[in-house]
Amino acid sequence: MLAATASAALYRDPDVFARERQRVFSKSWQFLGLEADLAGPGDYIAETLAGYPVVAIRGQGGELRAFHNVCRHRAGPLVSDAAGHCEGEFVCRYHGWRYALDGRLRSATGFGVSEGFDPRELGLFPVKIEAWRGFLFVNPDPDAATLMQTLEPLDVLFGNRAVPTASLRRSHDLDCNWKVYVENYLEGYHIDAVHPELAREVDAGRYAVRMEGAIAVHEVPAVSGAAEGLWAWMYPNLAFNLYNGVVMVEHMRPLGHGRTRLDYLYMHEAGDPQIDAAIVTSERLTAEDAWICARVQQNLDAGVYTAGVLSPRHENAVAWFQARNAQLMAG
Ligand code: FES
Ligand SMILES: [Fe+2]
Repeated sequence: MLAATASAALYRDPDVFARERQRVFSKSWQFLGLEADLAGPGDYIAETLAGYPVVAIRGQGGELRAFHNVCRHRAGPLVSDAAGHCEGEFVCRYHGWRYALDGRLRSATGFGVSEGFDPRELGLFPVKIEAWRGFLFVNPDPDAATLMQTLEPLDVLFGNRAVPTASLRRSHDLDCNWKVYVENYLEGYHIDAVHPELAREVDAGRYAVRMEGAIAVHEVPAVSGAAEGLWAWMYPNLAFNLYNGVVMVEHMRPLGHGRTRLDYLYMHEAGDPQIDAAIVTSERLTAEDAWICARVQQNLDAGVYTAGVLSPRHENAVAWFQARNAQLMAG
């Protein structure tokens, strides 16, 4: 029996994306940034992940904390920029309520005495935060499995590789549903037709993807010579690509049902000339993938195609991803 693809409606319906936010993204570990971005007490970074504005901060004692960037008064933002420093407390940007860095409401500034008002009930909404090898992840689900439980197979694959400390960021906006791009990432079947230069270096016929828990590992046989690399992906939307001493983190961020942002973070040794080649190659591949994904989205939107079939040999990881989504969406 051939596996059928997920229904085309799942890629074009805004209501589906609204449900994915609640059932997939509010319950999964999302990449946020680097632990080094929060060097000292009061340093924060803020980001909107699948529609959830979050802020992560280093507390007075050096501990990491994260919250929804949402004031309990009338939903103002606690911080309004992507990174900065708070001196000992958050001061809401709307009416100035003050919160301790552990989330407690310290002062409802100028609110006036009111019966039944208990500031202890109005602390910030917490978000889980954990670090792995210098990378920060957040998860809004208080019952979530630990980050290490989730990415253990990836940790084993990383082994004793060190993560270089210099960093460089690039972003690309894609005209497609996030799942179109993820599924494209999860197979090597398209390499010959979409990536002619890559096809000369990779034996696409022997390209394979195997799954361990929430991790999909690509086995990419080189045509000649043995280029050592690691291409691993973590459900639902993050890839770690290691090649020639560069560690690239690729975050496939849904901005809406039909728009996706790729955030690339390249970690490299300062002064390593490999970084320039890594960026040139990666930008070429991204442009090729962005083109095909946008055309696929256009065709899904057209409404002629309702579902297709998946190759058991080349698209096992796509089937696995679609089944995982279906399970969460049904739950
Ligand atoms: S919304 Fe934050 S103080 Fe009013
Ligand atoms: Fe590709």
